[in-house]
Amino acid sequence: MKDPAAFHKDAVAALRAAVPGRAIVAASGGIDSTVAAVLVQEALGDRARALFVDTGLLREGEVELVADFFRQSGLRHELLRAEGPFLTRLEGVTDPEEKRRRIGETFIRIFEEEAARSGADCLVQGTIAPDWIESGGSLRDTIKTHHNVGGIPKDSRLRIIEPLRDLYKDEVRALAEHLGVPRPERQPFPGPGLGVRVIGAITRERLAVARRANAIVEQEVDRAIAGGTMRRPWQYFAVLLPVRTVGVTGDSRVYGEAVSVRIVESVDAMTATALAPPAEVVRTIAERITRDLSGKVARVLLDVTDKPPATIEWE
Ligand code: XMP
Repeated sequence: MKDPAAFHKDAVAALRAAVPGRAIVAASGGIDSTVAAVLVQEALGDRARALFVDTGLLREGEVELVADFFRQSGLRHELLRAEGPFLTRLEGVTDPEEKRRRIGETFIRIFEEEAARSGADCLVQGTIAPDWIESGGSLRDTIKTHHNVGGIPKDSRLRIIEPLRDLYKDEVRALAEHLGVPRPERQPFPGPGLGVRVIGAITRERLAVARRANAIVEQEVDRAIAGGTMRRPWQYFAVLLPVRTVGVTGDSRVYGEAVSVRIVESVDAMTATALAPPAEVVRTIAERITRDLSGKVARVLLDVTDKPPATIEWE
């Protein structure tokens, strides 16, 4: 990237040239789409609407945190509640690529409806280079279809605009700093949300388990960071596995699922190193998850696989 100020100026001019009418912006609450939305707001003003979709696949407290982050970034946004359409489309789906495809498609359908309502024909997304590279843009095999790239149906009437598509994460961060978008306190979170952290079928019940387990991992790692026993990792989260194992609580048998804890260090998400947190942190996470989710989770595992050979998310 040229320097952030030059990129900023060119991007605003390019957006004005590319969008003569109205646009909607898919704002996920992550840094990439927030930076894209801030550029669009400057370029198009009231001709653009930034939409944040509550998919029902979000983390605990996410809607409030994201609203707060947008406020700090000076971004006006609208919240769309869409848990129903997402969960209906995901019913019974277990294949990771099919999940991603359906989530992407549901996002697009919602954006199409909203675009039609406001007379917009452009959809702005915060896609960055690793998103499309890993979605098959230049590598031979598709590693995984990132929801903001692979889910776009060929017959969509929306013109997709991606102002950040040639940037890498560190470049987006530099641009964010230049634009006054604060560093999000939150770690990166995938567009398909907990949908790719609930392995196997997605139900309201299993989502609730994954959501609580994720929150516990986040709280305990945050506590360790605050206490100085850990440095802030790139990502730290829980994944619910469709494996049932036997456990015991008091004197009764439990037959629950397993949760895997994943904590990784990375610079740009293209590669990552798995971290093992201090033993007390792992123990507290395991105790809290099995206690809070007693009867539902019988076992907690620690994922020690780097990327490559694994990816950061499980699906
Ligand atoms: P993977 O699992 O491919 O993840 O190693 C690399 C980084 O991208 C995030 N991720 C996504 N972000 N849409 C996104 O916006 C997606 O579909 C998606 N899938 C993974 C992941 O959390 C990690 O930071």
